[in-house]
Amino acid sequence: MNLVSADQNVLNGLHITFIGAGSIAEALIKGLSETGMSKTAYLHVTNRSNHERLNDLKATYPIIAHSDLRDAVLQADILILCVKPKDVHSVLPLVARHARADALYLSVVAGCSIESMRQMITSVRTDSGDPHIVRTMPNTSCAVRESATAYTMSKSCTTRDQSRVEAILHAVGRTYELTEDLLNAVTGLAGSGPAYVYYFVEALTRAGVDVGLDEATAYALVLQTLYGAAHMLRASNETPATLRKRVTSPGGTTFAGIATLKQHGFETAVRQAVIRATQRAEELGALLDEEVQV
Ligand SMILES: NC(=O)c1ccc[n+]([C@@H]2O[C@H](COP(=O)([O-])OP(=O)(O)OC[C@H]3O[C@@H](n4cnc5c(N)ncnc54)[C@H](OP(=O)(O)O)[C@@H]3O)[C@@H](O)[C@H]2O)c1
Repeated sequence: MNLVSADQNVLNGLHITFIGAGSIAEALIKGLSETGMSKTAYLHVTNRSNHERLNDLKATYPIIAHSDLRDAVLQADILILCVKPKDVHSVLPLVARHARADALYLSVVAGCSIESMRQMITSVRTDSGDPHIVRTMPNTSCAVRESATAYTMSKSCTTRDQSRVEAILHAVGRTYELTEDLLNAVTGLAGSGPAYVYYFVEALTRAGVDVGLDEATAYALVLQTLYGAAHMLRASNETPATLRKRVTSPGGTTFAGIATLKQHGFETAVRQAVIRATQRAEELGALLDEEVQV
C-alpha cells in the first residue's frame, strides 16, 4: 500500500474531460473545483442526453459542458470515465475513436478491468499503441475532498501519467496504489462504504427517537458522535478495538449496547455486506469481460 502525495502543478494547462455527469462525476468535479484546479487546468464534462444536468453543472462549477461527446473528447489530455458498468461497452469505443492518441484514460467504473478497457479502446484505434489506462475506485466523499481512493495503472503508464493521476486523486482525498486484483474489494469496502455509514447513521437516529429524543436532536447528536469518533480514530495511535474496550466497562451502559449489537449479528451483517458488494463488483466485471471477450 502506498499513500501518495502529489504536486498539482503537473496538471497546469491540461484538458480534463469527464465522460458521464452523474453522482461520482459531480463529487470529483466539486472536489477538484474547490482546490482551485480549474484556474490552471480546463475541466470539461459530457453525458448521454440529460441537458438539464449539464446546465446545472455548468452553472455550479467552473466547467465547460458539451452536449456533443466528440467536442468533449477531442482535445482531452485526461479522460475520466464516469458511466455505469452497463454503459462502458457502448461509450468507451466511441470516446476512443475521437480521443487523442496519447490521452490518458482514468476509469472509476466498478468492476471494469484494465484489460477490458484496453480491448475496447484498441478495437477502434490501432494508432495509439498500448493505451494508458488507470483503473480507480474513489467514493462520493470526493465532494468534500475526503475520498478513500485506490488505483491501479496499466503497464503502459508512465511516471508522468502517475503524477497526473495522483494530482487528481490526491486533490479529492487519500489515495492508495494497489494491485488490480484488490480493486473489487476496495469497491465493496470503500466505494460503497459511505452508504453503509449513512445507513448506520439513519439507524442510530431512529434509535435515538425510539428512546425519546426528537429526530433533529437525535440526528445532531449522532452526527457529532460520528465526527468525534472518526477524529479520535485518526488523532489517536490506538486501535479501534482498544478505544472501544476503554469505554466499555463490564456491566455499564456501553457494555449492554455492544452486547446487544453482538447478539443481533452486527459484525456478521457488516462483513457479509462487504463480501456481497465485492462479489457484485466481480459479477459486473465478469459481465463486461464476457461482452468484450477478454
Ligand atoms: N456513486 C458512487 O458512489 C460511486 C463510487 C465509486 C465509483 N462509482 C462508479 O462510477 C460510475 C458512475 O456512477 P454514478 O453513480 O455517477 O452513475 P450515474 O449517476 O447514473 O451517472 C452516469 C452518467 O453516465 C452518463 N452516460 C451514460 N451513457 C453515456 C454515454 N453513452 N455517453 C456519455 N455519458 C453517458 C449518464 O448520462 P445521462 O444522465 O445523460 O444518461 C450519467 O451522466 C459507475 O460505474 C460506478 O461504478 C460510483
